[in-house]
Amino acid sequence: MTEQSAREQAVVDQVIASFEHAGDARLAELMRALTRHLHAFLREVRLTEAEWRTAIDFLTEAGRITDAKRQEFILLSDVLGASMQTIAINNEAYANATEATVFGPFFVEGAPEIPLGGDISAAAAGQPCWVEGTVTGTDGHPVPGARIEVWEADGDGLYDVQYDDDRTAARGHLFTDETGGYRFWALTPTPYPIPHDGPVGALLAAAGRSPMRASHLHFKVSAPGLRTLVTHIFVRGDGYLARDAVFGVKDSLVVDFAQHPAGSATPDGRDLAGRDWASARFDIVLAPGRPR
Ligand SMILES: [Fe+2]
Repeated sequence: MTEQSAREQAVVDQVIASFEHAGDARLAELMRALTRHLHAFLREVRLTEAEWRTAIDFLTEAGRITDAKRQEFILLSDVLGASMQTIAINNEAYANATEATVFGPFFVEGAPEIPLGGDISAAAAGQPCWVEGTVTGTDGHPVPGARIEVWEADGDGLYDVQYDDDRTAARGHLFTDETGGYRFWALTPTPYPIPHDGPVGALLAAAGRSPMRASHLHFKVSAPGLRTLVTHIFVRGDGYLARDAVFGVKDSLVVDFAQHPAGSATPDGRDLAGRDWASARFDIVLAPGRPR
């Protein structure tokens, strides 16, 4: 080992040793591993002092722009794929259970309940879209009474919480019927950008990356004795599927959204007043486990 390498390794060893007596064994494990990987990174790229300053400024700005409505650190985690990796680790593949994907920052507790066949859009802009499917266990048995939360951006690419008028729109929850079936009216998903007017947006621009998310409809599905599923469905043919800003797309979650011309009969006989509409089917399979 050269003198230089020995000096660098000595710093690593000292920091790792400093966590040896942490009261919490898991905290000690996390901090020692973080130290090893962080120092390996610094040494591999031979980080300059100017680059270290830039990184500090980046984090400072991320903290400055973060408040109750804006979470720049989650965005940073998302665009680095750290959110998706954490989800992959914590939602182990199990038989034919539906895959999970990112939760995102736009879920709201207490969204209104809608009846089966009801409409979550609450008059938000966008093309009406009929969504139906079933919830079953991996053994194929239907799951009656499963709670399904759904939420999405409107046709202008914005979630209700991004408006200043306290509206509730394009979100709701419903329960499966006795055969595990569900159905509701929503809006055909459209692509939208993650908030990109802060340091994460600047990083994406500098990297030549798009802030756009592939069109999607969020689902959170829970039932007693089964692993809670947080996922989306994506629109087959969407232009952003291969370059989703947060790496959330899974092939198994890309579904067909059929287009129906104005005047064609709707599944529940609803009169759409001359508007065209779309429809999609999503059959959900829950793994055994604990709801959360
Ligand atoms: Fe979303």
